[in-house]
Amino acid sequence: MNDKKQQSGWEKFIQSMTKANELGKEEDIMMDHDYDGIKELDNVLPPWWTAGFIITIIISVFYYTQVFFNSEHYLQENEYNNEVAQAQEEIEAYKLANPELFKTDVSLLTDDASLAEGKKVFGTYCVACHMADGGGGIGPNLTDDKWILGGGMEKIYHTVSEGGRPGKGMVAWKASLSAEQRQQVSSYLITLQGTTAANPKAPEGDITWSKQ
Ligand code: HEC
Repeated sequence: MNDKKQQSGWEKFIQSMTKANELGKEEDIMMDHDYDGIKELDNVLPPWWTAGFIITIIISVFYYTQVFFNSEHYLQENEYNNEVAQAQEEIEAYKLANPELFKTDVSLLTDDASLAEGKKVFGTYCVACHMADGGGGIGPNLTDDKWILGGGMEKIYHTVSEGGRPGKGMVAWKASLSAEQRQQVSSYLITLQGTTAANPKAPEGDITWSKQ
């Protein structure tokens, strides 16, 4: 017991937090059982650990009351709904701020300037597969009245925006062309319908549509 007096404050603190049994006095807490020579000491739970355990219990009560009685904010379902509502607001604001990206008017353009723009887009992005005169190559003939995915401004705009059937090669151009460009190129493409291509591909598709 004499050495106890010489303990520093830190050592006392460690001792109070661990309640470790002094070395050399194991017999005091040795338990009776003996498994093939392996014995067990009946150590107390270290107070630091017990304190941590109690703190988690206190936190769990707080957490429980927040989740069930402050459900406006912390119930998963409400949290989800609140976030969705907020995202919806942000989407609306984004749509308002970027009207050109969310143009829903896909009416046929007939003015020369728009058709000239459409021709430019067609010449840049589409001729590789559809040919300059729309006669078709990798992609189908766009001058005949047979359509795989549907003719008419609305359907064509949709095909140009969303692409063709998976694996066919016609990509969704909304990723690289603005709504206006898609409207222009679709309108231009409609001017090709009914013309005679130099080297037309045989008609494909079961849908019949022509301008007239
Ligand atoms: C890599 C080749 C490729 C390019 C580039 C391409 N297309 Fe296509 N296009 C296709 C193929 C293949 C199809 C047939 C899709 C299917 O069968 O689902 C198609 C189909 C279409 C159709 C539907 C035709 C129908 O019969 O319903 C339209 C309209 C069209 N393309 C317009 C365009 C426009 C406009 C562009 C340029 C912005 C373009 N394509 C660029 C390959 C291409």
